[in-house]
Amino acid sequence: MNSLVVVAVAVCVLVPGARCASETIAWCFNLPSCNETTWATIAAPFCNGTRQSPINIVSANATADANLTAFTFTNYSNTSALTKIENTGDTVKVTLADGVKISGGDLSEDYDSLQFHLHWGNGSTTPGSEHTVDGKRYPMELHIVNSKASYKKNTTLAVGDSTGLAALGFFIDVMSGTNTAQPPGWNTLTSYLKNITEKNTSVSMAAGISLDDLLFGVDRTKYYRYLGSLTTPACNEAVVWTVFKDPIMVSKDLIDLFGSTVRFSNSTSSFMTNVYRSIQNSQPVRTQPTSSATRHTLSLMSLTLLLGTFWG
Ligand SMILES: *[C@@H]1O[C@H](CO)[C@@H](O)[C@H](O)[C@H]1NC(C)=O
Ligand SMILES: *[C@@H]1O[C@H](CO)[C@@H](O)[C@H](O)[C@H]1NC(C)=O
Ligand SMILES: *[C@@H]1O[C@H](CO)[C@@H](O)[C@H](O)[C@H]1NC(C)=O
Ligand SMILES: *[C@@H]1O[C@H](CO)[C@@H](O)[C@H](O)[C@H]1NC(C)=O
Ligand SMILES: *[C@@H]1O[C@H](CO)[C@@H](O)[C@H](O)[C@H]1NC(C)=O
Ligand SMILES: *[C@@H]1O[C@H](CO)[C@@H](O)[C@H](O)[C@H]1NC(C)=O
Ligand SMILES: *[C@@H]1O[C@H](CO)[C@@H](O)[C@H](O)[C@H]1NC(C)=O
Ligand SMILES: *[C@@H]1O[C@H](CO)[C@@H](O)[C@H](O)[C@H]1NC(C)=O
Ligand SMILES: *[C@@H]1O[C@H](CO)[C@@H](O)[C@H](O)[C@H]1NC(C)=O
Ligand SMILES: *[C@@H]1O[C@H](CO)[C@@H](O)[C@H](O)[C@H]1NC(C)=O
Ligand SMILES: *[C@@H]1O[C@H](CO)[C@@H](O)[C@H](O)[C@H]1NC(C)=O
Ligand SMILES: [Zn+2]
Repeated sequence: MNSLVVVAVAVCVLVPGARCASETIAWCFNLPSCNETTWATIAAPFCNGTRQSPINIVSANATADANLTAFTFTNYSNTSALTKIENTGDTVKVTLADGVKISGGDLSEDYDSLQFHLHWGNGSTTPGSEHTVDGKRYPMELHIVNSKASYKKNTTLAVGDSTGLAALGFFIDVMSGTNTAQPPGWNTLTSYLKNITEKNTSVSMAAGISLDDLLFGVDRTKYYRYLGSLTTPACNEAVVWTVFKDPIMVSKDLIDLFGSTVRFSNSTSSFMTNVYRSIQNSQPVRTQPTSSATRHTLSLMSLTLLLGTFWG
């Protein structure tokens, strides 16, 4: 979960007239002077808080909650909704058009989908997802950042609300076999990386791929839910986290492009690698009731029906 915009807005509010650059609060993944070990100091009180993300999800400890229903994804099939792709110096971020939103999933209201970005390690062999499940770290993680519709995309308001933001986390795993350039949506997305190799560079995206194309193969009714934070400074504890169980399967060649194409800064700087925060204190996690409970309910229902028929 990336908060560059949030940090920039906060600085603009505190220092009216100052240049509203996200670099005003210096944080990074790759230098000892600003890496994660410094965040609690440079971005107190949030980054050293008690509801920080990411976490390791212990699947056996997730409690059943039948309120965790399916989401409604609006404009996720729209192939014109991915507008701009950008190298922020910390991630690759894609801006979403107005009208993209989510509801359901036990969220209290509609949330506008603002942007998505990625976290990774170094190719398929050095995993870099932020969340882990039972200690397993996946190669990459995609975060779709959503803000309560009532805040009309004002992230200053959203980060002041303990449920102002809803983040959707999707793991990315290596597709088995010898497939390359798959799935097609990811082939298109990664084709833009060569255009944004340096920090602060961006290009417009042509129509062609949708969010649904990128979320290919994921059962979006199966997920973990907990309350956490942004995973980058200022680490605001304002996020309802949804972490989907199914990973998106992407071919190895495309995963490898992230750590070998875009750079942290200019053309002489290092490739952008290991752009994820380490695991924070655990939190209570909820998930859908298990299918065995569903089967039990169903069998009770059948029995009732059977007895009903028998007793006429
Ligand atoms: C951050 O930098 C410190 C040195 O100041 C180093 O010990 C540590 O391993 C670095 N952490 C990460 C996550 O890179
Ligand atoms: C975080 O740091 C701030 C400032 O140093 C301090 O006031 C606060 O108590 C710390 N919070 C926690 C949970 O350690
Ligand atoms: C998870 O469950 C294990 C035992 O199954 C327990 O030791 C641990 O404290 C639990 N963790 C949390 C966060 O509840
Ligand atoms: C489900 O939602 C209802 C109504 O908001 C609430 O009373 C109940 O505690 C929730 N169930 C769980 C398991 O959180
Ligand atoms: C898809 O999104 C674009 C960009 O916001 C918008 O102009 C268009 O109306 C949307 N299409 C549909 C079918 O909603
Ligand atoms: C999708 O986005 C477009 C552009 O903002 C909007 O006009 C349209 O109403 C949205 N679709 C739905 C189903 O809300
Ligand atoms: C990433 O992997 C490449 C090749 O596998 C290696 O040359 C490079 O040193 C690695 N970078 C880091 C930061 O580990
Ligand atoms: C966001 O809301 C804050 C607080 O109401 C306000 O000061 C700020 O101007 C708003 N920002 C934008 C971009 O509208
Ligand atoms: C990306 O760069 C290639 C050359 O490497 C160029 O042909 C293409 O037009 C660029 N795409 C965009 C969207 O700027
Ligand atoms: C990126 O932009 C920021 C603010 O505009 C600037 O301070 C920084 O030097 C730029 N970085 C690079 C590598 O161009
Ligand atoms: C690239 O950035 C480094 C510091 O990050 C700087 O020392 C160097 O002069 C820059 N090179 C170019 C070509 O801009
Ligand atoms: Zn993120």
